[in-house]
Amino acid sequence: MEKYVTKGYIFETRNFGNLLFLIIRNGYDYEQITFFKKENPDLYAIAKDLTKESIIKVVGEKKVSEQAMNGYEVIPETLEVLSVAKAPIPLNISGKIESTFDTRINNRYIDLRIPKNRAIFKIRSSIVRATTDYFDNNDFFCINTPKLVEGGVESGAQLFKVDYFGRPAYLAQSPQVYKEMMIVGGFNKVYEIGEVFRAENSNTTRHLTEFTGIDFEIGFIEDYNDVMDVVEGLMKEILTYVNKNNKREMELLGINIKIPEKMPRVKMSEVKKMLKEKGKILSEEDDLDPESEKLVYEIAKEKYDSEFMFVTDYPFSVRPFYHMCYKDATGKRTTYSFDLIWKGCEICTGAQREHRPEILEEQITDKGMNLKDMEYYIRMASYGSPPHGGTGLGLDRIAQLLIGLLNVKEAVLFPRDPDRLNP
Ligand code: 4AD
Ligand code: MG
Repeated sequence: MEKYVTKGYIFETRNFGNLLFLIIRNGYDYEQITFFKKENPDLYAIAKDLTKESIIKVVGEKKVSEQAMNGYEVIPETLEVLSVAKAPIPLNISGKIESTFDTRINNRYIDLRIPKNRAIFKIRSSIVRATTDYFDNNDFFCINTPKLVEGGVESGAQLFKVDYFGRPAYLAQSPQVYKEMMIVGGFNKVYEIGEVFRAENSNTTRHLTEFTGIDFEIGFIEDYNDVMDVVEGLMKEILTYVNKNNKREMELLGINIKIPEKMPRVKMSEVKKMLKEKGKILSEEDDLDPESEKLVYEIAKEKYDSEFMFVTDYPFSVRPFYHMCYKDATGKRTTYSFDLIWKGCEICTGAQREHRPEILEEQITDKGMNLKDMEYYIRMASYGSPPHGGTGLGLDRIAQLLIGLLNVKEAVLFPRDPDRLNP
């Protein structure tokens, strides 16, 4: 008969004198190894002193047992100690008592052995898989763009400066310019999943200094609705995929997934009226603050029975120079842009881009930026640039919200914030 072989970490030792159970864990699975003092004193002697989280290999027989956790136990014939763990373990691995977040991250390689924590990253992995599937099935090119750059097109204050052989360089805060170069280069549909850096010195439950961006850009769009259609399709694909393929993780984490039908698209001016009814007064030029985003979630649920809501048509004053605008009778500019708010948190910002060089010049000047600094950007639009648009979504926030984690850092293996650069 073929022997049963199993390997794992020692989760628990239950010693009853003549009888000893080692509960071992591998991934989500636990098994009971049963040692008899009389029948096999040598193995018993080794087993009884093994520390928690030591790693063993057992060869033996799998026997039906009604009392054992999985309906079977393993009776060992050989026991090999592959790794001895020091005692005590620096964090509580039973999952019953939560260690502090700092202790958990400082010992991430131990923390991840807790099935609930492992499940977070299994789901995160599925989100990436669903995303690449979605883009691949919809004829997008996967691109990889530089993260060491000379400058950026978002807010300059958020750039991390690095020394590049004696001259200043920065860590990319968005692949924006490169995505657009690909469109101008005739690629039509591109996406990138990559690291994004933001020197934001704030400690909130939704900000990281390094996060993973899911960015895409599409050429020859009719208008920004084409971009929102893709965001909507992508989010549905992600939720459908996780719901189908991560039953076990969903159970461990207590998640219920509601696959959305249509995500409402509501203009900022309308949203502000609805916010006013809730007692939140914002001026025409104001952006949504975190409190407004929470109220947008209430509105989305109450008025549209939706967890999601696109807020569209932001005033030019709160958007970057490259968002395409329309003007009202007084000349005031509004952008063809949107944010998607999910459960009260922004998960993406997107827009139709301004592709006409002369209007770009106007918008850059009106933002008080130096035209000379932006020459490269205007130049890019000067030799044929199709109407295009795109967006950036935050993978970490999507994972956080899907799983219902209080802090985005819990959805990141090795989070970076103003205080943390290690491990
Ligand atoms: O809204 P953001 O800054 O938009 C851009 O970067 C544009 N270039 C995107 C575009 O194509 N128009 O960032 C996009 C998304 C946010 O909605 C949010 O989900 C995430 O990236 N994000 C962050 N996630 C974690 N920590 C931070 N500090 C983040 N900043 C933005
Ligand atoms: Mg944004």
